[in-house]
Amino acid sequence: MVETRSRSATASPARRGPSARGGAFAEAAAASAAADGGAADEAAFGELVAKASGPMLMPEPSPLDDVPDVPFAQLCHDGTAVTARNWLVKLWRYTVVPTKQLYLPWMFSGLPTNYLMLTYRTFNRDFGLPNCNDDDLAPLLRDELMPDRGRMHRERDLGLWYRTRGLDMTYLGVPGLVNFIDARTRWIDDGMKRALDDGIKQVVIIAAGYDTRAYRLGRPGVKFYEVDLPHASEKKRELVEKLFPADKYPRPQFIGADLSQVGLADALAPSDFDRSRRTLYLIEGLVYYLPPVAFKSLLSALAETAAVGSRLYFDFINLSTMSGDVFHPGFETLMVSVWNKGEYFLSGLDEREQCVRAVLKKFGFRLHELVDAKALAARYLSHLEWKDKAPPLPPYFGYIAGEKALPPLKRIDSVEAPPRRRK
Ligand SMILES: C[S@@+](CC[C@H](N)C(=O)[O-])C[C@H]1O[C@@H](n2cnc3c(N)ncnc32)[C@H](O)[C@@H]1O
Repeated sequence: MVETRSRSATASPARRGPSARGGAFAEAAAASAAADGGAADEAAFGELVAKASGPMLMPEPSPLDDVPDVPFAQLCHDGTAVTARNWLVKLWRYTVVPTKQLYLPWMFSGLPTNYLMLTYRTFNRDFGLPNCNDDDLAPLLRDELMPDRGRMHRERDLGLWYRTRGLDMTYLGVPGLVNFIDARTRWIDDGMKRALDDGIKQVVIIAAGYDTRAYRLGRPGVKFYEVDLPHASEKKRELVEKLFPADKYPRPQFIGADLSQVGLADALAPSDFDRSRRTLYLIEGLVYYLPPVAFKSLLSALAETAAVGSRLYFDFINLSTMSGDVFHPGFETLMVSVWNKGEYFLSGLDEREQCVRAVLKKFGFRLHELVDAKALAARYLSHLEWKDKAPPLPPYFGYIAGEKALPPLKRIDSVEAPPRRRK
């Protein structure tokens, strides 16, 4: 029997995921500790390196050294090229898919994606379905922004139920979409708890939307920075002032910036963000909306801004699906529905592990965790059976956790002595 999780329940399948300290970071840290002498030592050494001005001697090769160097443009692109392998999918994409316009605007309610995230985050819980995220502040934001939608959730409105459950139809909908937001929220929550447990004191939430982590998971001494488009940031600030009492919920610093126009370092510059401190960067639900060049700039900004030992979490769309090499009808439907909202999928990332390692390496990060949909479903929604035709999570999204590594340093075999001064 499937177990439905209430907010206080502790026995749901979700709870069987990794514990705060026992997750993949801990495993990876243990592995890397065995391999290179300890992640903590390395972070401390990294800080020394960052402060040092002269050349340093690196006794062991950096863990970044054994990853192939492939051009970024090969690893991340918009997937529009038509090849012999994918022309049938492309044909489907441009002929059959547009007919979906007959029902998609109704099914997706015309809400912008960050509003939809809010409703999907709460849907399973509100409608008594198995769920795994703990975001108990999302309903407050949702009810303020979309009072009718909030009422439908509270009353378990049948129309909304059928419409949202209809998303799970293989060829007409986007199977697993609601679970995707549920599980992604939980995965990033867990990553953030681990980072704070491990002593990280700064969190930058990029494209924050209606993310509530700063208010739910904040701890004394931890600073949060929420970056979003200027109008979205201002609206969020007003909502937070109205809904969350300042004495109970710590305030992040709101940073209004269009990251396609302004670099992250410049956006953070007016705040008290300290780039010498280890930082957790969260980029949830954004990178596929950026053209590859903007995604690359964002990663370059992290290469420039993030201190050694900083962590990065983001989700992405598999390049194989984006380019049509692999056919998922749900993806084709989702692509049109976001297009209807004026928000286009513009980049996919090669999901093969070595390729992900290669992308991260370019920007000074090493891979800690690459999770595909099947693994995420097994971790957080293990009560749902995996079916290829109607998967419980969309199989074309991937999830990456990385850590800023020591820069690869050159071994110095001989040092020239400076000329002696004459007395
Ligand atoms: C799909 S929503 C995700 C919101 C949130 N991270 C979540 O998962 O609920 C995408 C967010 O990215 C923001 N965004 C889109 N383009 C952006 C840009 N160029 N610079 C900054 N933020 C951007 C939008 O305003 C929106 O809040």
